[in-house]
Amino acid sequence: MARDGAVYACQSCGAVQTKWAGQCAACGAWNTLVEELQSRPPGALAPSRGSARGRGLAFEGLEQHTPAPPRITTGVEEFDRVCGGGVVPGSAILLGGDPGVGKSTLLLQVAASAAMRGAACAFISGEEAIEQVRSRAQRMGLAAAPVKLAAETALREILEGLKKERFDLVIIDSIQTMWSDAHEAGPGSVTQVRAAAGELVRLAKKRGVAVILVGHVTKDGAIAGPRVVEHMVDAVLSFEGERGYPFRILRGAKNRFGATDEIGVFEMGDAGLSEVRNPSALFLNTAGERAAGAAVFAGIEGSRPVLVEVQALVAPSAYGTPRRAVVGWDSGRLAMVLAVLEARCGLGFGDRDVYLNVAGGLRISEPAADLAAAAALASSAVDQALPQDCVVFGEVSLSGDVRPVSRMESRLKEAAKLGFRRALAPKDAEGGGGLAVTGVARLADAIQRIGDGDWG
Ligand code: TYD
Ligand code: MG
Repeated sequence: MARDGAVYACQSCGAVQTKWAGQCAACGAWNTLVEELQSRPPGALAPSRGSARGRGLAFEGLEQHTPAPPRITTGVEEFDRVCGGGVVPGSAILLGGDPGVGKSTLLLQVAASAAMRGAACAFISGEEAIEQVRSRAQRMGLAAAPVKLAAETALREILEGLKKERFDLVIIDSIQTMWSDAHEAGPGSVTQVRAAAGELVRLAKKRGVAVILVGHVTKDGAIAGPRVVEHMVDAVLSFEGERGYPFRILRGAKNRFGATDEIGVFEMGDAGLSEVRNPSALFLNTAGERAAGAAVFAGIEGSRPVLVEVQALVAPSAYGTPRRAVVGWDSGRLAMVLAVLEARCGLGFGDRDVYLNVAGGLRISEPAADLAAAAALASSAVDQALPQDCVVFGEVSLSGDVRPVSRMESRLKEAAKLGFRRALAPKDAEGGGGLAVTGVARLADAIQRIGDGDWG
């Protein structure tokens, strides 16, 4: 029986329950309910003490001018762009990513570069000893940068240290290793992560320091620890990359000070990460001829065009339930495109396995990739290669229409720049970008052309 006034708050989603349970009824997480003392029912106002009254709100208009926040540009341009043009002083950023993807490497480079430009930077590692961080920095040629290093996991020590010295940028690697002695839970537990993040974010706001927290990601892709950390910070960035590929992509998932559709592209090498300023042809498979089942998608990532090869393999299924496997694209989207191909173009996949892969380890989320995926699938199904010099883009609707997409002109221009001469695209794109555009209004027209090899 719950004590009077006690409630149980889920440390993962924040839902409040009156009874303890092993599993949160709201988000389904296990062992996340923690008792919180509450002297009044949730939502009720505190009884006013004596004659104490608020001063009341002072309202302001929307039209008043607020200057743009100042920014610390770190000099790592791909990073600065994803942050919205540099890091805002007093803001907190969470950088998530799989272990080993290169978060520590990236942030060490960011800190070193910012320090070389005059910002006071601290790199606090809870995962590696100072010697390890230092030797890595030396290997990456960053030894001359005036970054202050520390290896510490005790939050109290860190907060004290940061009060003594003034910093512009502080990196905490990682939030899961930090612990506060005000809580009994072990390091990495939800309570500790939340407490540590809370303290560090408060410090950022109070002292105008930009704080970047590293967060590990669990197997299912969520940043480990409570979701509330994502709500506490001003920006959430994720650092992604497929194993076996050198490319790393920095993506904004939330940003109070900028857009979230920008990506930063890096390449991991022997001397750390190098910036890829012009990623447009990075994900093309340039070795040899493009075979049946491959289509070059002219995509847009953030503000930049990116050409990427979409590969499909359609093969007779050996089992009752055919396999669908997809890497780098949404599996729901694949199911939709397969259904439209079947219902509107008479191309059945019911007894065939379907594999779809986006080359180079990129993940595409644009609906504009629908037509490229459909073209790759159809090309594999009928065993007819698309022309080598052809790019594809367009959104496919459930009715089988091919819809125009954003920035068609820049897609075509970029393709022309990289030596492509043709495009299979929505009708509206015809005559654009200096390419021979085969404009299609219906997916069935596109599939017909692929089957006939008719690119007249
Ligand atoms: P790291 O930054 O430690 O990853 P994270 O902090 O996200 O766990 O990066 C580790 C990987 O990067 C490791 O597998 C080795 C590789 N790496 C290089 O290939 N070249 C380099 O110069 C560095 C520093 C790391
Ligand atoms: Mg690390």
